Amino acid sequence: MTLDKSPEKIASMFDQVAYRYDLLNDLMTGFSHRRTRKVAVRMSRFSEGQTALDLATGTGDFAFLLHKQAPKGKVVGVDISLRMLAGAKLRAKKMGIQGVEFRHGNIMELPFDDNTFDVATIGYGIRNVPDALEAMKEIRRVVKPKGRFLIVEATPPVSRHMRFLANFHFSKIVPLIAKVFAYNSDAYHYFAKSVELFPTAPEFAETIKAAGWQKVFFHPMYFGTVTVFLAVK
Ligand SMILES: C[S@@+](CC[C@H](N)C(=O)[O-])C[C@H]1O[C@@H](n2cnc3c(N)ncnc32)[C@H](O)[C@@H]1O
Repeated sequence: MTLDKSPEKIASMFDQVAYRYDLLNDLMTGFSHRRTRKVAVRMSRFSEGQTALDLATGTGDFAFLLHKQAPKGKVVGVDISLRMLAGAKLRAKKMGIQGVEFRHGNIMELPFDDNTFDVATIGYGIRNVPDALEAMKEIRRVVKPKGRFLIVEATPPVSRHMRFLANFHFSKIVPLIAKVFAYNSDAYHYFAKSVELFPTAPEFAETIKAAGWQKVFFHPMYFGTVTVFLAVK
């Protein structure tokens, strides 16, 4: 089975879920995504004076954490959904954060010169692009030599038992929560399917290498249901 991941389709789907996106994230993960994000951003080692690009930034969670880690660094968040970006800008305003720039753009054709950023991050976004290998080559292009790449993604656990439980959570519990709380619960069926079809962490690490990244390392969390990947250009 294949999913339609054309940027137009994905943008319209995220436009429809943007309003309740943050609430649904908390409910679907039992708030655990907050810890995952903090652990991951620390692993990026983003520091003062550096530049970071947060791809598929959505409502800005990773971008804000990067900014918090290095307030004198420069952070740019890019997303294809205008409504998710509007949510990010509103949150920045409410939090009084001015040091993060949000831009509309497609990961497959980034509007930046070669070798621009010290760090690139993408959280829960790589499974939504039409071609992950090409996306990671494009991301590599805009990262400086020796720059770091951090990916956080929901992954199918390697253990068969855990995989069964994770599939149950995504195919039964998540759509139920979405039905009650989200305006467009259909989108959450897509999310469940996209996680189920995503490669396991060791398999995906090979795709990161194939995109030209080096020193690829991965750190499974929550029984392998989420994985943090790190790589160097
Ligand atoms: C599941 S959300 C993750 C948002 C955020 N990173 C987070 O951690 O909450 C996925 C995001 O990827 C964005 N996205 C999907 N495909 C994209 C593409 N080709 N270019 C840019 N953004 C994309 C969607 O619009 C959506 O906001």
